[in-house]
Amino acid sequence: MRIAMIGTGYVGLVSAACFAEFGVEVTAVDNDGGKIEALGNGQIPIYEPGLDDVVKRNAESGRLTFTRDLPSAVQGAEAVFIAVGTPSRRGDGHADLTYLFAAAEEIAQGLVEGSVVVTKSTVPVGTGRKLQALFARVRPDLAIEVASNPEFLREGSAIEDFMRPDRVVVGVETERARQVLDRLYRPLNLTQTPILFTSLETAELIKYATNSFLATKVTFINEMADLCERVGADVQVLAKGLGSDRRIGTKFLHPGPGFGGSCFPKDTTALLRIAEEANVPLRIVESVVAVNEGRKRNMVRRIVQACGGSVRGMTIAILGVTFKPNTDDVRDSPSLVIIPALQAEGATVRAHDPEGMETAGRELPQVVWCEDVYDTMDDADAMVILTEWNAFRALDLKRVRDLLRRPIVIDLRNVYEPAEMIAAGFSYTSIGRPVLDLNAKSERKIA
Ligand SMILES: NC(=O)c1ccc[n+]([C@@H]2O[C@H](COP(=O)([O-])OP(=O)(O)OC[C@H]3O[C@@H](n4cnc5c(N)ncnc54)[C@H](O)[C@@H]3O)[C@@H](O)[C@H]2O)c1
Repeated sequence: MRIAMIGTGYVGLVSAACFAEFGVEVTAVDNDGGKIEALGNGQIPIYEPGLDDVVKRNAESGRLTFTRDLPSAVQGAEAVFIAVGTPSRRGDGHADLTYLFAAAEEIAQGLVEGSVVVTKSTVPVGTGRKLQALFARVRPDLAIEVASNPEFLREGSAIEDFMRPDRVVVGVETERARQVLDRLYRPLNLTQTPILFTSLETAELIKYATNSFLATKVTFINEMADLCERVGADVQVLAKGLGSDRRIGTKFLHPGPGFGGSCFPKDTTALLRIAEEANVPLRIVESVVAVNEGRKRNMVRRIVQACGGSVRGMTIAILGVTFKPNTDDVRDSPSLVIIPALQAEGATVRAHDPEGMETAGRELPQVVWCEDVYDTMDDADAMVILTEWNAFRALDLKRVRDLLRRPIVIDLRNVYEPAEMIAAGFSYTSIGRPVLDLNAKSERKIA
């Protein structure tokens, strides 16, 4: 079986490599010549744990090839996957389908009778129908099948998520398309992965509903953290108590500086636009988007407050700029709001991220980037943990204490225990944890 994958970003490259691992012959296409050249030379343009091995193994076996030549990649492929970006459209928050339709126009030229074109990109409800109309217009000579197969992988664990998904969602309209997709995902029968065949519209909407629900969970625990701070409760313990209820589950109950990344922000906003067009108010998702935006700005106030009310003239050490650990992706990361705001308030920012400094460097040119995490703290007045990379979980606290000019730590991911930090001599701010109470207790104990 031979397929083509259009787009070799986070989703396209992982999907192409994993389908090749399933034994399928995959031609991966990108119109970014630099990416294709790098991939051809065995270099992986993104950071994703384990991806290099899967790509290398399948490229060496000849099952996975890379090209810029889209028409020849598409010719003879049983399925053509579109995995190009669908970012937020500037100004209105609709999903921008420019790349998708441009790719579809190009694909149309190489298609043959019975080809199945599958959208892996996250696309608004109705996009599958628009693609059907496009192919009917551009290739009236052919009967082209359109399917929807949204991707649920998470950056940082993308290979595992692709190989062992909770489910696969496939929107199809014909038996032929169903059979092609069924054959492609057959290896997942081994792990008894449910394959849910639906209509095009349902498949497209499942993806947005999933991401919006998860974003709601994150926002819920973030607001609970705010409440915990006011009433002296501990959000970490609360999350455990809440998440242990199997109807709720423990995942996505980690409080932090607000969700970011390449999916939640754009997908929640796009779902709102879809709902507006359908004249159906989605008030929960509206609140989630508004609360999350406000939260990133609140984090700046929290940092300024922890620094004594002003950061003018101060140096702030920032640990982590990616939206989560184990990726180099900084799209819509809270760091892109928090760091410029601190700079606007007069602070100098020194930052380190294990994988994201190159991508973040393009967005945050004024930052002093440090190769070593401890270099950020050199002469810094405060340290802020923005991303919970494992490398930040076991810092030498004595060394941190010695390096910082003032022992101020603002931990926006609750990586450390308040008691531990206070015992180590820090003025410590976390998210939703009763620092002051612990302080008072320890003072009482000492007295
Ligand atoms: N990143 C994630 O974690 C994730 C997870 C699930 C779903 N998605 C969805 O998958 C889609 C892709 O996301 P991504 O993060 O991989 O995007 P990306 O921006 O990392 O990659 C897109 C790639 O497509 C290429 N491209 C654009 N137009 C092209 C064309 N005409 N021909 C060939 N290549 C072209 C770009 O050069 C780029 O390499 C989006 O719709 C996204 O919402 C992403």
